[in-house]
Amino acid sequence: MKKIVIAIDGFSSNGKSTMAKSLAKHIGYIYIDSGAMYRAVTLYCIQNSFFDGEELDEKRLQDNIKNIKIDFRLNDKTSLPETFLNGQNVEQQIRTMEVSAKVSRVSAVPFVRHAMVALQQEMGKAKGIVMDGRDIGTVVFPDAEMKIFVTADPQIRAQRRFDELRAKGDTKTTFEEVFENIKSRDYMDQNREESPLKQADDAILLDNSHMTIDEQMQWLVNKFKQITTSNE
Ligand code: DC
Repeated sequence: MKKIVIAIDGFSSNGKSTMAKSLAKHIGYIYIDSGAMYRAVTLYCIQNSFFDGEELDEKRLQDNIKNIKIDFRLNDKTSLPETFLNGQNVEQQIRTMEVSAKVSRVSAVPFVRHAMVALQQEMGKAKGIVMDGRDIGTVVFPDAEMKIFVTADPQIRAQRRFDELRAKGDTKTTFEEVFENIKSRDYMDQNREESPLKQADDAILLDNSHMTIDEQMQWLVNKFKQITTSNE
């Protein structure tokens, strides 16, 4: 069967990554988490003190962008890709609230986006890929054969993210903090000048507020089958 490109875009913390990962595993495709790439750049900025409070020194970031090398390597035990920044596994570090709070600032910088988009396009060249993010169906792969735009109620997204943090042992972050972070990221993602988050004209809308993981998976696999059989 001919391999296709699957672009999954949408708001933060709506389960995109989980669904993209399971779909990729189910159909034998490679999964790429484009948000992890912006998070890795943000971690680099934090580690190298490019932030002074909320203020980002874009000049220093620009001077150093060529020194930021990001790749994904498969974890042998979980068979899932993990994010590496300059050869270091940063999969856990990029998921902290500190990174979440600063990533929208970094991902709004045009030269950061250009560098990440070029890397993402390179990764998707051979097709057979599921990539999730904000601009995958609009900018990175405008010709993707399957485009999904995921949405869910912000309260429900905050609760899911909050439960996830608690499960990981974070007992400090409050629900209100998570909810505020989600609302401000939604706003910044949709209102930034450079490739803002929006549904591609040819993307299929999926509201998963009241769907179980299994229902969602079934829905995706059905769409995949419809698209790949009609493309043959
Ligand atoms: O999917 P995520 O929450 O891990 O993404 C982290 C941030 O990166 C998010 O706030 C927006 C940004 N992002 C982006 O601008 N473009 C993408 N393709 C993916 C993520």
